[in-house]
Amino acid sequence: SRREPTEVTPVWSMRQAGRYMPAYRKLRQRHSILDLCHQPDLAAAVTLQPVERLGVDAAILFADILLPFEPLRLGLSFAAGEGPKIARPIENATDVERLPSFNLQAELGYVFDAVRLARRSLPADVPLIGFAGAPFTLASYAIEGGASRTFTKTKRFMYQSPDTWHLLLSKLADLVGRYLAEQGRAGAQALQLFDSWVGCLSPHDYHTYVQPHSTRALQLAAGAGVPLIHFGTGTATFLEDFAAAGGDVISVDWRIPLDAAWSRIGPKAIQGNLEPAALLAPAAERNRQVRDILKRAGGRPGHIFNLGHGILPETDVAAVRAVVDLVHDT
Ligand code: CP3
Repeated sequence: SRREPTEVTPVWSMRQAGRYMPAYRKLRQRHSILDLCHQPDLAAAVTLQPVERLGVDAAILFADILLPFEPLRLGLSFAAGEGPKIARPIENATDVERLPSFNLQAELGYVFDAVRLARRSLPADVPLIGFAGAPFTLASYAIEGGASRTFTKTKRFMYQSPDTWHLLLSKLADLVGRYLAEQGRAGAQALQLFDSWVGCLSPHDYHTYVQPHSTRALQLAAGAGVPLIHFGTGTATFLEDFAAAGGDVISVDWRIPLDAAWSRIGPKAIQGNLEPAALLAPAAERNRQVRDILKRAGGRPGHIFNLGHGILPETDVAAVRAVVDLVHDT
């Protein structure tokens, strides 16, 4: 992220801990996902699993972007196999105005404890990445009440009540900016802002309704003094604005070639961008895609190899390990 030369291309993977991994599934038999997040010793243990199994160059804290919804009293739960559910979604201006402000240490202190524990347990040369959801992606879950394919409620809210929309996003930006900075102070050595679903917006709407709030979140996070990774998917149509919003590293998905993306983000590091489904392909096709990304990076300092989005639950652990080894050996 500081674009310093390295001997091998560093590699880690989003969702490198999770259901595709037998050690994770074993723990999940006895603990819910929220249990794993709430108990720092368990969260730290899960954080370490992929480092041991995959040989990746970084660990990402085991947590979830939706955890701040608990102190916001939106009623967060994870239904088996269905993804997140929000019991009290945000519907109007009153809901936004009445969002409680809360003490980060008191309400989310278990996350900072997990950061400290994981940092202590990790090998010294494996950095720990903390993270938070970006204002837009969090707002989309808060408004939709769960996952969505079309983001209809979110967009209707944005267009019908722009002032309330901006109030909601500025509240979320303030919250996640401070939350990230606190993870940095607890020992996270890089911080990633996840704007997973922002690619559903037009370039104009990204610029108008989202970019200022992502900028604000990243400015607050910068207070921790560690590198910031700005992740999104579907950002190719507004990549200049996405990069300008902030972050030392811009994480791009597979819908744009890595070199084309790099030439558009300016003097920043880049993360990505293997198609997650390539891990389901035969080895020859998988390796072709990995080598193509490395060729496009051309050995320039500042490339962090990663997927363009998270590992799919159907993925074979051995395939992920093979990608890590191929990146290191190329
Ligand atoms: O290894 C890692 O990447 C760290 C752990 C991590 C989780 N969630 C654990 C988790 C991270 C970084 C996240 C971030 C997250 N959570 C995002 C942004 C990243 C992305 O994929 O775009 C989002 C959108 C969420 C919200 C969320 N949490 C969803 C949509 C789901 C359901 C996913 C599914 O496939 O069911 C979760 C649950 C969740 N969070 C799981 C994990 C490992 C799987 C649930 C389980 O164990 O049953």
